[in-house]
Amino acid sequence: MGRFGGRPRVFQAPGRINIIGEHTDYNGGLVMPAAIDRRCIVAAAPNRQRAINVVSRNLNAEARIDLDRLAPAGEWADYVAGVAASLINAGVPISGCDVWIDSAVPIGAGVSSSAALEVALARAFTSLAGVDADGLSIARWAQEAENKFVGMPCGIMDQFASANGVENCALVLDCRTLKAEVAPLPPDFSFLLVNSMVRHAHASGEYRRRREECELAAKALNVKDLGEIAESALPSALRGLPAGPAKRCRHVVTEIARVRASAKYLSAGNISALGQAMNASHASLRDDMEVSVEPVDALVAIAQETPGVMGARMMGGGFGGCVIALAQSTDADRILETIVARYAARIGEAPDAFICRAVGGAGEMLL
Ligand code: GLA
Repeated sequence: MGRFGGRPRVFQAPGRINIIGEHTDYNGGLVMPAAIDRRCIVAAAPNRQRAINVVSRNLNAEARIDLDRLAPAGEWADYVAGVAASLINAGVPISGCDVWIDSAVPIGAGVSSSAALEVALARAFTSLAGVDADGLSIARWAQEAENKFVGMPCGIMDQFASANGVENCALVLDCRTLKAEVAPLPPDFSFLLVNSMVRHAHASGEYRRRREECELAAKALNVKDLGEIAESALPSALRGLPAGPAKRCRHVVTEIARVRASAKYLSAGNISALGQAMNASHASLRDDMEVSVEPVDALVAIAQETPGVMGARMMGGGFGGCVIALAQSTDADRILETIVARYAARIGEAPDAFICRAVGGAGEMLL
């Protein structure tokens, strides 16, 4: 820590899984994410300059960001500049600091390494400015950085989960009201993540297209968001849309219904019904939202066929990244090994895989 003029304060923000509720956040719908025990760490100390000097251990890179000239530069430091810009827009009195970043959230795996970085930075910058921000504000500023500086038109799920996670619980977040309920997870079940090892070069372009298609469908149906359409009104809504937009609409409306049902299954301890809902979510993402790719479908099928798996599906925006599977904790290691071995035989390399635990959201680490 020889780089720091003063004694740094250290902040952490977790990555996230999403149990169910995909491509629903930007449609004003429900999602069910949980923060996980893979964290991004940010150490920060004031430097009495009008600049942020930042070092990334993961990228082995450094950058200097002029606080009086914040603009996207098309590089990794945009995450840092973007968070600073959102905070300044919101009237938070940011001043110069030295920042060191080290993240254990795997990059490009669909577990929100970017959100974890943005949220950790937002916690660090607000705390250094003496501002005690609530988790929703932190999530909004982090999302704004991603939307405006990184150029990814994401919803709020990832940043919200990272900022507001609760230990051993999922969050059932209504993205229209931004109200979340805490849903305790069953202690004898675990979530397994297996990376498909596919990184789709056009993922963010495809994501933007899906988002635009949903917005057009909402407009055609005269609603603000597709999330406003009740499941009972779906048949008539579908009749009012051309085939393509109708599929997107069907995914969104049925996926929101699956999240609502899943919250009930969780509180009733009906884990096999939760698993079935995860399987149905995958089919809808593959067939109606059309955001899966062939290797991911193959990995999901392998997981679903593995004895002991309650349910499995693609996770996140799509076109690659991790698959999530739900299994009894006592068998989790063996089940993970089986899935990894079968998928490795298919793709010719061992995929990254891990079992995760739900943790609390971002905060300062008191050393
Ligand atoms: C990405 C985005 C989220 C959400 C998911 C799909 O992770 O960052 O906002 O839209 O895709 O559910």
